[in-house]
Amino acid sequence: MFLTKDEERMLNGEEGYAIKKSMEILTALGDIFGAERLIEVESVQVAGVSYHNLGDAGLEFLNELAKDGKVKVLTTLNPAGMDLENWQNLGIDPEFAKKQNMVIEAFNKMGIIVSCTCTPYLIGNLPRYGEHVAWSESSAVTFANSVIGAKTNREGGPSALAAAFIGKTPFYGLHLEENRAPDIHVELKAKLTKFSDWGALGYCVGNQAQNKIPYITGVTNTSIDELKTFCASMVTFGSKPLFYMKDITPASEKYKTPKEKIIVKDNDIKKAYASINDETEYIDFVCIGCPHASIKEIAQIANLLNGRKISSNTEFWVATSRAAKQLSDKRGYTQIIENAGVKFACDTCMAVAPLKGRFRTVATTSAKGCYYSRHNKMLTKMGSLEECINAGVSGKWS
Ligand code: F3S
Repeated sequence: MFLTKDEERMLNGEEGYAIKKSMEILTALGDIFGAERLIEVESVQVAGVSYHNLGDAGLEFLNELAKDGKVKVLTTLNPAGMDLENWQNLGIDPEFAKKQNMVIEAFNKMGIIVSCTCTPYLIGNLPRYGEHVAWSESSAVTFANSVIGAKTNREGGPSALAAAFIGKTPFYGLHLEENRAPDIHVELKAKLTKFSDWGALGYCVGNQAQNKIPYITGVTNTSIDELKTFCASMVTFGSKPLFYMKDITPASEKYKTPKEKIIVKDNDIKKAYASINDETEYIDFVCIGCPHASIKEIAQIANLLNGRKISSNTEFWVATSRAAKQLSDKRGYTQIIENAGVKFACDTCMAVAPLKGRFRTVATTSAKGCYYSRHNKMLTKMGSLEECINAGVSGKWS
């Protein structure tokens, strides 16, 4: 890969350890993927924040970088393993909290905004159309590429950090226009009637398209919240973090409809639910907010919970960014939600919090949430917000 004089100097260690290490990571990646050079990025989003996933080796790696590493561009963080302010309320072990705080301290020292959310685009890290960024959370990467029309590969934690320290990323993959053309037509013939149907659609499209870029037709109306859950699901069950939706996503008019075609019918959506859902009647955990709940979703939760109480056998979390929670506090939604016995889980989520062994079953609106909960050995139920709230109130799935 071609390096400028400045980049050569950085690689030779003339700007310190973190910069040298970062250049090593970026040049290795560039060489593997055949990048000709590095390009500037406007923002970075770093995943790999939970101590649950990092362990002591990860913490040590971050501490080394934090000694002299400072980010050069706007950099935000993915969810951590706990609510940074209210972890006791979520039943987090104090030893885990101590280590998680050390991880956050390292990121903070690097100049990263401790936003701890997978929806950075809702709280101010919002790229422009066509802008190059280096993001790592898969649902956010898919949202940035598809819904916003920015350009990013799906970075790993270390390569995102390296991009933040250098302000650049190797010019390959989805940064190149020629790699962004759709190659499979997905015609939606199913009727989507509830929010979780978008997760089911993501399951169908991801599973069938796999490494191809879908061009979806037949969608006449959708919302940002539906698109964000679709993004999370499609990339979880498939692999390419980019799709086009005719007349909905910004770059869709640039391309012709691909010849290869799949059709998603009502029966496919039904089969997706059958595959995502397990057999269980009882629910001991409900989690809404995967990806992190927007203020609009929080308002809907407050509206549906108003005056009701969650079963004493059920733990119920609303996972969201701290910024969205602060808006919720101001609008009075927090009080309504907490009065019902529901807990806010800011800065964290059902996949990265240390939940293994704590709950047997989970109800959620999110297909991605179900996928990761199965890794945590839980039985899963995906349904509408109303169905999840009813499950929280009765402790049963009906
Ligand atoms: Fe976000 Fe966690 Fe879901 S990172 S997309 S809430 S699994």
